[in-house]
Amino acid sequence: MTTLTIDGQTLVAGPGQTVLETARAAGIAIPTLCYHHALGPYGTCRLCIVEAGGPSLSHTITTSCNLMPADGLIVETATPRIQALRKTILELMLSGTKKTPELRCRAGAAGITNSNNTGTHTSARTGRISAGTSTDPCILCGLCIRVCRDTIKANALSFSVSGTGRHKVAEMVAMTKERCIGCGTCAAVCPVGAIHLEDRGALRRIVLYGKTANKLPLVRCDLCSRPFTTEQFILSVLSRVDHTLRAGIGHICPDCGRGRFATALTGQFPPADRQEIQ
Ligand code: SF4
Ligand code: FES
Repeated sequence: MTTLTIDGQTLVAGPGQTVLETARAAGIAIPTLCYHHALGPYGTCRLCIVEAGGPSLSHTITTSCNLMPADGLIVETATPRIQALRKTILELMLSGTKKTPELRCRAGAAGITNSNNTGTHTSARTGRISAGTSTDPCILCGLCIRVCRDTIKANALSFSVSGTGRHKVAEMVAMTKERCIGCGTCAAVCPVGAIHLEDRGALRRIVLYGKTANKLPLVRCDLCSRPFTTEQFILSVLSRVDHTLRAGIGHICPDCGRGRFATALTGQFPPADRQEIQ
């Protein structure tokens, strides 16, 4: 067991928990952009910085998402210095970047209500400041790429890279259409709303940086006929589950699936309108 102090509270870190996770478990909020609990730390956006010091660490400012607790570590998450640095980091990200509601919300939480557009765009991944106003809000945090590669295992997204030798620079997220299964997990994890799904009729568009990156047909629910997901997504799920579970997975939308389950449990569902459909 590791005991540390965060914002004056003595806390015991759980097995494998980072300082960020230990703080959050205790209700101490630390802002993040490139961290997701399903993927773990990445350490690029720097928004989660804290002041930390103790027997095994000289007093320093460091990212908390990849800082492992140590006995006697003392962490301060919101000193004036930290708050000023976070504000600067966010201001750099906001300058020249399209300001989505998600990005404005994070900026507002850091006390930034109006950012000057300096005509530059700052990458969370490299800190590189590029000239010109970007028309997309992407901060190159890498979450969409990691979730698609490591969790979904589709590996449809990657950073497009320019330059040669040691001067390679990640510039934007690119999609390999043939690998995309249209699940939308990338859109769900993107912290700034740079990716979203548009379902119109029986077609799903994956919109990246405001442009259609891929289009996939949607399959219809066997029970209610609504288009609800892609064939590629169903095949991906089927490929991961034991054969005993496969029979329960098919072309049935989540709503009808829940209705079916409720019927099996209670004998009282579905309600009249659902019975008509069946
Ligand atoms: S599209 Fe979103 S999740 Fe992907 S790198 Fe850009 S900001 Fe991060
Ligand atoms: S959340 Fe820690 S560096 Fe991004």
